[in-house]
This record gives sequence, structure tokens and C-alpha cells, in this order.
Amino acid sequence: MSTPNIAKEDIINAFEFRHATKEFDATKTISDENMEFILETAHLSPSSFGFEPWHFIVVQDAALRELIKPVAWGAPLKLDTASHFVLGLSMKAPMVKWDSDYIMSMMKDVKQWPAETIEMYSKFYREFQESDFNLDTDKKLFDWSSKQTYIALGNMMTSAALVGIDSCPIEGFHQEKAEALLREKFGVDTDKYGLSFMVAFGYRKANPANPKSRRNIEDIVTWM
Ligand SMILES: Cc1cc2nc3c(=O)[nH]c(=O)nc-3n(C[C@H](O)[C@H](O)[C@H](O)COP(=O)(O)O)c2cc1C
Repeated sequence: MSTPNIAKEDIINAFEFRHATKEFDATKTISDENMEFILETAHLSPSSFGFEPWHFIVVQDAALRELIKPVAWGAPLKLDTASHFVLGLSMKAPMVKWDSDYIMSMMKDVKQWPAETIEMYSKFYREFQESDFNLDTDKKLFDWSSKQTYIALGNMMTSAALVGIDSCPIEGFHQEKAEALLREKFGVDTDKYGLSFMVAFGYRKANPANPKSRRNIEDIVTWM
């Protein structure tokens, strides 16, 4: 690992280049190497306590993409034209509650912490969930997982832009219907995972019709 030294102009250029791509050039495919690079930036994304409360499904099967259309009003054109189409899943309460088997296995098997560290973290994590953040409903726990999965989403879209790949984040879907579909046709255990977002990757069919519109930076940043 070395200290990055990417020119700021290149990074800002990638942020200007990235836009919510409405239609992709269906004849262009992202290479495996580039797609693995994009997914690796999700993999390396930060998460609260490092518990990675997410899963990503890359939907390349045309028949499965068809099934998504009726439950995702924001997605049809992207499903038809995107090179790669990813579902961002986030963990629900049975996975991320402080005393779940998953959290225990993360601490024991992935992080390989000694027993006393696990005991200390468990206490701390419980207090964080129950008191600091008041994550006392299934909905709140899922939304908290989702917030983290969105960090991975941002990283994937930015890294894609840095190598000239377009993307579109998609929340245009019916959550309940989409989850029923994932349960019935995609083999997802929806007691454990919910759908946070979809994101399409590919190459733009045309440049965006309008220039980027943003508020003034002074209106969104306060210095004290
Ligand atoms: C969480 C989220 C959900 C979005 N959902 C959709 C969507 O369902 N369909 C779509 O075409 N664009 C969607 N967008 C794109 C936004 O409309 C777009 O990012 C915004 O208008 C700013 O434009 P830009 O991304 O081109 O700079 C979504 C963006 C975000 C961040």
C-alpha cells in the first residue's frame, strides 16, 4: 500500500463526469477486471464497528432483470441497457443486533479478536445500539444498516467514474414488492436482508442533456 497521489483535477473531473445515467449504450460491456475493481471498492468501504452489514447481488441474467421491471419504476431502461446491474442489500435486525450470531462470528472468525476484546466490544456495541443511537425497532436497525450500505454505493459510483464508467443509483422501486420478488425468485432470505438500492453500471448512450445543477457551496457548508 502506498500513499495515494492522484491529481485533484482528475478526481474533480470524475465527480463532474459522473451523472445519473438514464440510458446506457447496450453494445458496451464493462470488463470483468473493471467490474471487480468497482466491487472491490464496496468491499473496502468503511462500516460501523467494521461489521459490513451488506450484500451485493450482480444481476446479469436477462430473465431475472425482466422480473425486476414491474416492481421498479425507476429501472426499466437501465435494466435493458446497463452492462452490470447491482442490488444493494442491507442486513436486518436478526443479523445486526448486538447479540446476533452474525456479529459474534464477525468478531470471532473475521476479525479474530480474543475473547476479552469480544466481550468488551459486545458491551460497547449493545450500549451504542440501545442507548446512543436508540436502535430499538427492526426498521431503525435496517435503516442504520442501509446508511452504511450507501457509503459503499457512493464509493462504487465514484470509483467507476474515475475509470470512465457510468452509473445510476436507483431508489425507484416498491420496497415490499421488490423484497417479495427477491425472496421468491432470487433466493434472498428477506428476514435477514432488505433491499436498500439498485445501481446500474455501463457506458452512457449520450452525454447528459443538462449541465449539473447544484446549490452554491456556501449554502451547504458552514465554517465555524
Ligand atoms: C439514493 C438515490 C436514489 C436515486 N434514484 C433514482 C432512480 O430511481 N432513477 C433515476 O433515474 N435516478 C435516480 N437517482 C439519481 C438522482 O436523480 C441524481 O443523482 C440527481 O438528480 C443529481 O444528478 P446527477 O447525479 O446527474 O448529478 C437517485 C439518486 C440517489 C442518490
